[in-house]
Amino acid sequence: MSVSDARLFPPGYGPVSVSSDYRPMDRDKPFLAAWRVAREHTLVDQLRLFELWQLVSQLDGVPGDLLEVGVWRGGSAAIIGAALARRGERDRILYLADTFTGVVKAGARDPYYRGGEHGDTDLETVRDFLHNAGLSDFRLLRGVFPEETGNDVAADALSFCHIDVDVYQSAHDVFFWAWPRLSTGGVVVFDDYGFYGCEGVTEFVNTLRRRRDCLVVANVNGHALVIRTQ
Ligand SMILES: C[S@@+](CC[C@H](N)C(=O)[O-])C[C@H]1O[C@@H](n2cnc3c(N)ncnc32)[C@H](O)[C@@H]1O
Repeated sequence: MSVSDARLFPPGYGPVSVSSDYRPMDRDKPFLAAWRVAREHTLVDQLRLFELWQLVSQLDGVPGDLLEVGVWRGGSAAIIGAALARRGERDRILYLADTFTGVVKAGARDPYYRGGEHGDTDLETVRDFLHNAGLSDFRLLRGVFPEETGNDVAADALSFCHIDVDVYQSAHDVFFWAWPRLSTGGVVVFDDYGFYGCEGVTEFVNTLRRRRDCLVVANVNGHALVIRTQ
């Protein structure tokens, strides 16, 4: 970190760069096709989208539907949906929940967010975007999750949950709604982990390391994975 960078970040934060060279995403034509459709509709970078793609591609033996909370303009949902469609199954639903009026539940643990950020989207546009992307096995839910739309998730079990909600309390509430429904071997992916401005999400995920029913994997790439082990 340079001296000028050090002035920009508080202790414990600074630029993180990846120094590996392996780029499997460049040779994965179905992923690249999905990414070209999704990239103008997402705040999530290609590395994290590829991680979502690979995880959904590995759900063999893990029963249950899929849930994303934090859809915004539908880009990460399009990647998850395309990976799901490629599995060739007809029995898994992708539930996509957002307020469509922006971030909620910002609090004292969230130094950047105040509420209402990322409200520049709407459900109808996202629905049309996903249909145009060739997806059909999804349900869009409008409202605060889980309080207003959790009951609309008709899933007996979940295999995968993507939580991209920016702040502590929403991350907490979504996780504790999803976790009892998550199959063994299922995964919760937290976006926002480690981002300066999303300290609340990082703080919440770090509390999960105490649990005995999961493995927390956070490679400081902006994602934390919580894998159900029992
Ligand atoms: C950073 S954006 C999501 C980005 C998106 N995944 C993408 O591909 O770019 C965060 C979204 O979370 C939504 N959100 C935050 N807390 C929520 C909650 N408790 N229930 C529903 N939506 C929520 C906001 O409305 C916002 O659209």
